Amino acid sequence: MRSKVRAGIVGVGVGIPEPVLTNHDLEQRIDTSDEWIVTRTGIRERRVAPPDVATSDLAAQAAHQALQNAGRGAEEVDLIVVATATPDMPWPSTACLVQAKIGAVRAAAFDLNAVCSGFVYALWMAAQAVETGAYRCVLVIGADILSRQVNWEDRSTCVLFGDGAGAVVLAPVEEPYGVLSGVLGADGTGAPLLNVPAGGTREPLSPEVIACKRHTIHMRGREVFKFAVTIMGEVSVQALEKAGIAPEEVNLFIPHQANIRIIQAAAERLNLPMERVFVNVDRYGNTSAASIPIAVYEAWEQGRLKKGDLVVVVGFGAGLTWGACVIRWAY
Ligand code: UT7
Repeated sequence: MRSKVRAGIVGVGVGIPEPVLTNHDLEQRIDTSDEWIVTRTGIRERRVAPPDVATSDLAAQAAHQALQNAGRGAEEVDLIVVATATPDMPWPSTACLVQAKIGAVRAAAFDLNAVCSGFVYALWMAAQAVETGAYRCVLVIGADILSRQVNWEDRSTCVLFGDGAGAVVLAPVEEPYGVLSGVLGADGTGAPLLNVPAGGTREPLSPEVIACKRHTIHMRGREVFKFAVTIMGEVSVQALEKAGIAPEEVNLFIPHQANIRIIQAAAERLNLPMERVFVNVDRYGNTSAASIPIAVYEAWEQGRLKKGDLVVVVGFGAGLTWGACVIRWAY
């Protein structure tokens, strides 16, 4: 009997802008301190894309590297999903721009917006598409340039975010490898806690809107924090139960990199020592949909992901949204 076909990650890549903005740089601009930022968030520096770089540029770079690592050509890709909340333009989708940039001539392409949970949403949706046999080579990309949506005068938000992109290639793999389970969730009543209020159809851009900075990120930090510490652990446990895996079997936990305190709380909920938790929030800050695939790439590059390892990826974000996937690493 043939074993079940699952979707597995067979290549990873990143697109990270070079310019670094440190906490000390921010001390020169706003009333903050390296000590406050490090103790409250764990962030030491973040990357900020230069003005001529757009989301599709970082996404295409990540896609190109992921395809190279997978040993696949762009013409083999049959679907591109870009998880982003900061597209190059309202439309067409950033995924279409990436498709043209990398020459993926056979691929369908669309964007998915679940903000910081976007990569996990896209991964789980794309995994279903591969498992059914409908698609055989899917690029799942998380890419965001939140520095363009930040209010650089608001110290409670501007210290948190950074720019970047990460990509994975999903293709059929045989059991026991691949994406074993996924759980996604949303609670739209929490939309006011974290949003960019203007620039859409509710409050189109106008000089007044821009003067009031309503086209920038607005966040009720403490409430988002409370939500995050609970949901990250809970959704991870749900995804593990669905996969029939005990938390102690997890080799590497790769959470959304928003805040070290949130990551530690989630690890505690799963009873996982921090040695089995991947952390790079200190170097990138919160890169939204890019944070998990960048972390996955770095974990793989550092040799912390080996064939057969059990991995949990888990995210939360505006929406509110959340999601987790359990993966048995395939290469
Ligand atoms: O992907 C989802 C994205 N969002 C998040 O993950 C955010 C989740 N929330 C958090 O990570 C935390 O709530 C923050 C890091 C945003 C804030 O930490 P906190 O421990 O919840 O601090 P707070 O908001 O309660 O503020 C404490 C104090 C306030 O001063 P007062 O009112 O106590 O005098 C703030 O004005 O810290 C002040 N403060 C700052 N001080 C120096 C806020 N931002 C800064 C800053 N530098 N950058």
